[in-house]
Amino acid sequence: MCQWNRLLFALGIITLSLVGTWASRLTLGITESVLTKEVGETVVVKCKPDKEDAVVTDVSWTIDGAPIPQGQEHRRRVEEEPWNNCDTCKMLVIDQVEVSDEGEYECKGVVDGSPRSASFTLFAQRVIKVINAPTTQSFQEGMDALVKCEVSYEPDQPIVEWFDNGQGKISNDGEKVFASDKGLTIKNISRTDEKTYTCQARTTGSGGLAIERIPISVVVNYPPKFAVREKAIKSWIGATVALHCKAEAKPAAEYMWLVGPDVLHLKDWERETGKVFEVMTNATDKSSTLKFRVDQLKDFTYYYCNAENKVSIESPNAKPDEQKIHLLEVHPPDQPVDVKEDQVSSNTVRLQVTRPLNDGGIALTGYKVKYRERSEQQEGMWSAAKAYPVGDTVKIEHLNPSTQYEFEVSAENAAGISGALSVIVRTTAGPGGSTQAAGSLAASALLLAAFTLTACW
Ligand SMILES: *[C@@H]1O[C@H](CO)[C@@H](O)[C@H](O)[C@H]1NC(C)=O
Ligand SMILES: *[C@@H]1O[C@H](CO)[C@@H](O)[C@H](O)[C@H]1NC(C)=O
Repeated sequence: MCQWNRLLFALGIITLSLVGTWASRLTLGITESVLTKEVGETVVVKCKPDKEDAVVTDVSWTIDGAPIPQGQEHRRRVEEEPWNNCDTCKMLVIDQVEVSDEGEYECKGVVDGSPRSASFTLFAQRVIKVINAPTTQSFQEGMDALVKCEVSYEPDQPIVEWFDNGQGKISNDGEKVFASDKGLTIKNISRTDEKTYTCQARTTGSGGLAIERIPISVVVNYPPKFAVREKAIKSWIGATVALHCKAEAKPAAEYMWLVGPDVLHLKDWERETGKVFEVMTNATDKSSTLKFRVDQLKDFTYYYCNAENKVSIESPNAKPDEQKIHLLEVHPPDQPVDVKEDQVSSNTVRLQVTRPLNDGGIALTGYKVKYRERSEQQEGMWSAAKAYPVGDTVKIEHLNPSTQYEFEVSAENAAGISGALSVIVRTTAGPGGSTQAAGSLAASALLLAAFTLTACW
């Protein structure tokens, strides 16, 4: 038992003394002997003794045996990094690793009098790199657009193909589109070319298949353009008008209103006429509306809507567009030329209406008819006016049988209502009485008179 103890004690002493005298080494602070970095990344590797108090001299770095220079001008360099008893300690720095940086890196030095070294292998992993391919690219319509997609796959170029989403692969037709290592050129680009394209880069090299798909949305801008450059709006004193203005433009146009024979700015016209205008911008389509109340003859003039956008401002071969709106005065129509009895039954009367000669400058919207009962003794109350569509006749229903009515017919348009033309008609006797042609009413009135006479006989 005691023998064993003594032996273990002795072993302990040996171990302790071995550790105590263990020579210091250089370490690189990386766990694996292979360091993998993507092309373009930065490499920083420090080289230090593993013991704080070790004395280190003559530190140097090599790649595949060749010395690595010092100095900021070198992309691959060593930088001084003194440490405790190591004035010559240096770290390895590689900015933007390239495939050519691959190799065996070694840090050498003399540690506590003994030459030491530590090494690792650098592997630069090739990745497809997007150098310049903005996800949204804007062009002006009509130009030869270069949709940028610059990619690299050090040290070679990947194969770049273009896809038009929904349409498939774009073939180089050499006329309208062609691809280069800078991107896809679309000649005389038009708004129908506005869509999302995919720039696809792929490799087939020894590093295995790599693929990168970059969606690029192409925006095609164009200056404002009005579908119609001149139009007329009809209005009348007392009306509130809303003049709408919308030009086709990308980006959406901004609008400015001008008024009057001298084409004044809205503010000047307001000062001159005392008018109050309201200008509204539609949040959805950015169109502009000029709203005001027409209350003087001066308001019947020209209104100009000027549209411009970034393209018309910045491009020398594009210009703003203008729409001219003529506000025309219209009036209520004249009264109908003639109104007369057409057909009569026990509870309906159909009147024949001859349109007014003058509609006031704007289409008729209908006729208004009111009526009242009449007898020799008294006149009834006027009914509420009822609207009828414009036509050759109006048919008034739900009347009482054997009753005399007075009808008043006027014509109407958006500007107002005409004076009324009246006619007196008598409905026929008895429920279910058959329709009579005009003229027979007189006969039935006669008959009635005859009957009265007989009764009094
Ligand atoms: C460009 O395209 C437009 C249609 O988008 C066409 O009207 C015009 O003539 C073309 N211009 C040229 C120079 O080819
Ligand atoms: C704004 O414009 C949209 C689209 O043209 C239209 O549907 C909408 O009614 C407009 N809104 C107003 C408040 O005028």
